Amino acid sequence: METISLRQATLKDKALAVDFDYSLGKVEHIELKREEKITKAIMEEECFIILADNRAVGFIIFDYRFFDLGWIELIIVGEKYRGRGIGAQAIDLICRQSKTNKVFTSTNSSNAQMQRALNKVGFSFAGKINGLDEGDPELF
Ligand SMILES: CC(C)(COP(=O)(O)OP(=O)(O)OC[C@H]1O[C@@H](n2cnc3c(N)ncnc32)[C@H](O)[C@@H]1OP(=O)(O)O)[C@@H](O)C(=O)NCCC(=O)NCCS
Repeated sequence: METISLRQATLKDKALAVDFDYSLGKVEHIELKREEKITKAIMEEECFIILADNRAVGFIIFDYRFFDLGWIELIIVGEKYRGRGIGAQAIDLICRQSKTNKVFTSTNSSNAQMQRALNKVGFSFAGKINGLDEGDPELF
């Protein structure tokens, strides 16, 4: 079994994180200025590289902008590494290093993989917001 760990991202990791994000959705990556967002998160020490046996397999952006509570803004595990428990372990690790007891995040109703990963590490459903993505409510 692989050992999963997190390491604070530095600007040297920017290309790596940008690549993971770009592979997920080119249009969103460009339209939502995700490269800028990732760079800002790195500069503000809010970006963490997910390592599986020391190999970079994804990243997490984590901050305290949601009512001053721990907030997982984004997690991406590279496509070829998904479905083997890395996401859930990375979420668990980021929660353990949170300064707050409660940690929140949100995901689309259609994102069963993220919901499954969150359920595995004990997240519970807090509420739903309609109207962000048409026909695909955001679950908190
Ligand atoms: C969401 C994400 C981070 C989860 O990471 P991961 O490493 O795949 O997570 P895990 O392997 O810990 O758990 C995923 C679970 O979803 C299950 N799963 C996979 N595909 C699924 C599907 N289509 N429907 C339902 N469950 C699914 C897996 O079997 C696994 O559950 P299991 O361990 O009980 O078998 C990853 O899929 C990802 O990067 N997705 C794209 C980006 C994204 O959507 N990020 C979240 C929004 S911020």
